[in-house]
Amino acid sequence: MQSIVQPLLEWYDHAKRTLPWRGVSDPYSVWVSEIMLQQTRVAAVVSYYTRWMQALPTVEALAAVDEKTLYKLWEGLGYYSRARNLQKAAVIVVRDYAGVLPRSVEELRRLPGIGDYTAGAIASIAYGIPVPAVDGNVLRVLSRLQSDYTDILEPSAKTRAFDTLSPIIPPDRAADFTQAMFELGALVCLPKSPRCDECPLGDRCKAYRDGLTTELPVRVVKTKRKTKDMTVLVLSTAQGYVLTAPKEKGLLAGTYGLPLVETALDESDVAAACTEWGVYALNVQPLPKAKHVFTHITWNMVGYLVECAVEELPAGTIVAGAEDIRARYAIPTAFGVYKPYLQ
Ligand code: ADE
Repeated sequence: MQSIVQPLLEWYDHAKRTLPWRGVSDPYSVWVSEIMLQQTRVAAVVSYYTRWMQALPTVEALAAVDEKTLYKLWEGLGYYSRARNLQKAAVIVVRDYAGVLPRSVEELRRLPGIGDYTAGAIASIAYGIPVPAVDGNVLRVLSRLQSDYTDILEPSAKTRAFDTLSPIIPPDRAADFTQAMFELGALVCLPKSPRCDECPLGDRCKAYRDGLTTELPVRVVKTKRKTKDMTVLVLSTAQGYVLTAPKEKGLLAGTYGLPLVETALDESDVAAACTEWGVYALNVQPLPKAKHVFTHITWNMVGYLVECAVEELPAGTIVAGAEDIRARYAIPTAFGVYKPYLQ
């Protein structure tokens, strides 16, 4: 594997994209960008990252920011626990590390929201420590290079990737090596149609040699879930309750409904989720859990009654009083358990 290093870095030097967090070794910038890039595409992250760094340029600024500003800066990126963890970790970094992120993977790993991958990315990109950062891109590249049929969704694939890369990361270019691996996965070694004719590692790739690039990597998706966790939000404003516009397709097509989040939110995540509906949560109260069986799927629902102030409702969303709702809007039976709270 040692032989991939030189051609990979030479390719990266001329092919890399210009991104606002590239060429920056400030650990805070690297941290924020890596957290935003989890589960989110590069193109979507760029403007959020730039705005965030203007509003909160230092760990101290993040540690001190109020919740509303924090959520506003994250609004639309989803997975709000990422923003909350960033702030929790910032408070710890200010308290225990004088505002400077620790250098070691072990200490980074202990901060909220930082897992193996992010710890490796920060240590290598910000501090130049030759430690791997293994994400889905890296697993795909290695699976193809080595013609490795290990299921990349198994934890053992990560360990193997880590062990493969650890000895070959050049100590003087650890930051570039990490980013070059991401970049190769993002620009060339694409999941569906890899651009092997442009690949700097084409002559070292076993999958390419054997015509197996479309078969690899192996991803064994476990049997489809027949249940779905949902959160139902009863958003109570001074003018009435928030109802979402009828959808064209799906289980609830054609009816006004209650705002839904397609996961089971903890109480502490509800205020952040409310920003998606253009309201600011003032008070959150848990409601009973409920189950609704559709033909092919069962929803396991958690509910929250949220007193809130309207800021700017998304298009199609309306606010209606309880009597108006009963008289004019057929709320789907899936929400039956929550209807009594519309009063
Ligand atoms: N994906 C995860 N980290 C990245 C980075 N630093 N640059 C581009 N894509 C990434």
